[in-house]
Amino acid sequence: MRTLIKNGIVVTASATSHADILIEDEKIIALEANSTAAADLNFDAGGKYIFPGAIDVHTHLEMPFGGTVTADDFTSGTIAAAAGGTTCIVDYAIQTPGQSLGEALETWHRKAEGRCAVDYGFHVAITDLNENVMAEIPPLIEKGYPTFKLFMAYKGVFQVDDATLLNVLKTSGHAGGLVLVHAENGDVIDVLTKEMLAAGKVEPLYHALSRPPQAEEEAVNRFITMAELTGAPAYIVHLSDAGALGRVAEARIRGLQIYAETCPQYLFLNIGSYEEPDFGGAKYVMSPPLREEGNEEFLWSGLETGNLQVVASDHCSFNLKGQKDMGRSNFTKIPNGAPGLENRVQLVFAGGVNGGRISINKFIDLVSTAPARLFGLYPEKGTIAVGSDADLVIFDPDADFEISAATHHQNVDYNPYEGFGGKGVPRQVFSRGRLIFDEGRFVGEPGQGMFRKRRPFNGM
Ligand code: URP
Ligand code: ZN
Ligand code: ZN
Repeated sequence: MRTLIKNGIVVTASATSHADILIEDEKIIALEANSTAAADLNFDAGGKYIFPGAIDVHTHLEMPFGGTVTADDFTSGTIAAAAGGTTCIVDYAIQTPGQSLGEALETWHRKAEGRCAVDYGFHVAITDLNENVMAEIPPLIEKGYPTFKLFMAYKGVFQVDDATLLNVLKTSGHAGGLVLVHAENGDVIDVLTKEMLAAGKVEPLYHALSRPPQAEEEAVNRFITMAELTGAPAYIVHLSDAGALGRVAEARIRGLQIYAETCPQYLFLNIGSYEEPDFGGAKYVMSPPLREEGNEEFLWSGLETGNLQVVASDHCSFNLKGQKDMGRSNFTKIPNGAPGLENRVQLVFAGGVNGGRISINKFIDLVSTAPARLFGLYPEKGTIAVGSDADLVIFDPDADFEISAATHHQNVDYNPYEGFGGKGVPRQVFSRGRLIFDEGRFVGEPGQGMFRKRRPFNGM
């Protein structure tokens, strides 16, 4: 089947041009101005932008965490992704201690298979390293799982020690893998948390105060040191703090292969949110926590200068009622995480492009092209080119949006960006040539999203 999208302004990470897009089945087969090609389906983009489908490389769907399970599963989460212009996600398959990595992947494949509205892949989170697990790493890279996540925080749950960090960096780096970390010093946080609780400081604000920026900066620096020792490429997830960013920038100046992502929550929200009345601060309990007002401008400038390469959501949704409220009298019982999968693209467009902080091409790079390159999905995904998947978003830069839990597609009872507004709305979203989202309505089918094997790490 052939589909022709006419009259759009095609935006990639490197260019903006007027071109019509001809799709055959799942792939783009031609890009030309004023196309006269015959097609079975014709769309008029009406002068709007056409973006490559966005890629969210940090999601947690149907994840058991903090004594409960995230509110979004692979169906609701990927429908919300489609609504927001995201056509591929990479979620985390987390090893339960004692399990092999293969078993962890089987568990996560079972959750996702036949349920996704957009394409998906998995990182493997290692929580319990031994010789057998180490031996699984090189073959997994070859099988389409080139990225391994380690947590330097969540003591007693996911946290690993420095020997594990070093050994995984060595093994993965030599085999074409990329190691990702949650960089916060879990031991420091554990001590501070106990002090807070002993002093009766139990409200959501103390979640943030028990996880100071120094705990992140120290962990980032330690991880970079180990990456340097091993020569392995390394990536820091959800970087939140200006000091930590400084460590990344310094490492990159020295020529190290250090990459980092930040997330919309650290660009748009700040520590003041923890004081929302009636336990409202629990909505923002996530790790790392929200930082002081003003910190966000350092992150925006990190995005602009290239020291931060990716904006991902770290979507990890828990309902306020029935989940977050488990921690009403003790902030450590509030499950950590917040939703963001649906709103990531329009927030970065509104704050970044309309806010005059980044160009439209840089915006595409941050939400689509750089994630595709770093995570082994390029050039099938992350760009608009002949031969690429027809994952496309017709985006109206002049339409108004206002974010609300009342209208979002995420299966969670609040939205941390409630009332945020701006201009820029995805009108139509195509996944491998099929229209899946049209003028506010999901018109695809859960199950049409395919698992995507990813290539070994090959730089940017
Ligand atoms: O608070 C967060 N970020 N929850 C999700 C798990 C993680 O640390 O990424
Ligand atoms: Zn994390
Ligand atoms: Zn996460």
